[in-house]
Amino acid sequence: MTLEHQANEAQNRTEEELTCRVINSFERTRDERLKFLLQSLVKHLHGFVREVRLTEEEWQYAIEFLTNVGHITDDQRQEFILLSDVLGISMQTINVSNTVHEDATEATVFGPFFVEDSPEIPLGGDISGGAAGKPCWVEGSVTDIEGNPISNARIEVWEADEDGFYDVQYSDNRIAGRAHLYSGETGEFYFWGLKPTPYPIPHDGPVGKMLEATERSPMRASHLHFMVTAPGMRRLVTHIFVEGDELLAHDSVFGVKDSLVMDFKDHAEHTATPDGRDIGNQAWSSVRFDIVLAPEEFPARG
Ligand code: BEZ
Ligand code: FE
Repeated sequence: MTLEHQANEAQNRTEEELTCRVINSFERTRDERLKFLLQSLVKHLHGFVREVRLTEEEWQYAIEFLTNVGHITDDQRQEFILLSDVLGISMQTINVSNTVHEDATEATVFGPFFVEDSPEIPLGGDISGGAAGKPCWVEGSVTDIEGNPISNARIEVWEADEDGFYDVQYSDNRIAGRAHLYSGETGEFYFWGLKPTPYPIPHDGPVGKMLEATERSPMRASHLHFMVTAPGMRRLVTHIFVEGDELLAHDSVFGVKDSLVMDFKDHAEHTATPDGRDIGNQAWSSVRFDIVLAPEEFPARG
């Protein structure tokens, strides 16, 4: 055995011993899940430090970065969630927690712009509340995985205006581009919204800096958010995306799933609308989204 080889073995032993000691320090944790989470976290974090041979300067930089993430976070701005989003952690947690269930509609990221107590609209109502954009007729149905209609499902919808801003990003307390409605007797729903357009996630903080340093764009693919709930059914948080959008392959938070990409049809001005509504001298769009809810008791994987 060469001297170099012996030194390497000694180094490995020192590093492995430390990892074992830290993992063992959690041995007496009574809560089995907490113990499992912490021991696994230590195993993976130590593995990372060892794999990349982390320098003390890099460790210091990481601490400063996380401190900055904390400093910009308040009750309006959650930079930690944004960090989780751009690292794909949010999306991977959704994948793990919303196991694929036959034909049930897939879930995606929740995002920071949902607001409780949105206005209720009737079937056929308009969620735009004056927000600027191309009118879009959205229709579909809510069923279970056997195709049985689900009536009275609560459907929350929210979206940005054509300038790329949600109502809550304006300082005038407006409520626009959001509402909730209930599916009808045969599970059907329909409403007027806006054809989604792309917008950037907040990128004026440390997460934005990280995106810039790594030549990544903050842009999200155009989307319309949905949250659908019904008794006995798994809550569905999802979006629909616009087929043909160039950003589908580069969504900054990795939220796109093929099954959620929809054909938004464009209609010229003066074309008759599905409900006969007069929208003036404007072109409009339409999309169909059939929602399939998984049963609530469907077990999580693992
Ligand atoms: C959104 O779609 O609203 C969103 C999702 C993740 C981060 C920022 C915004
Ligand atoms: Fe969004």
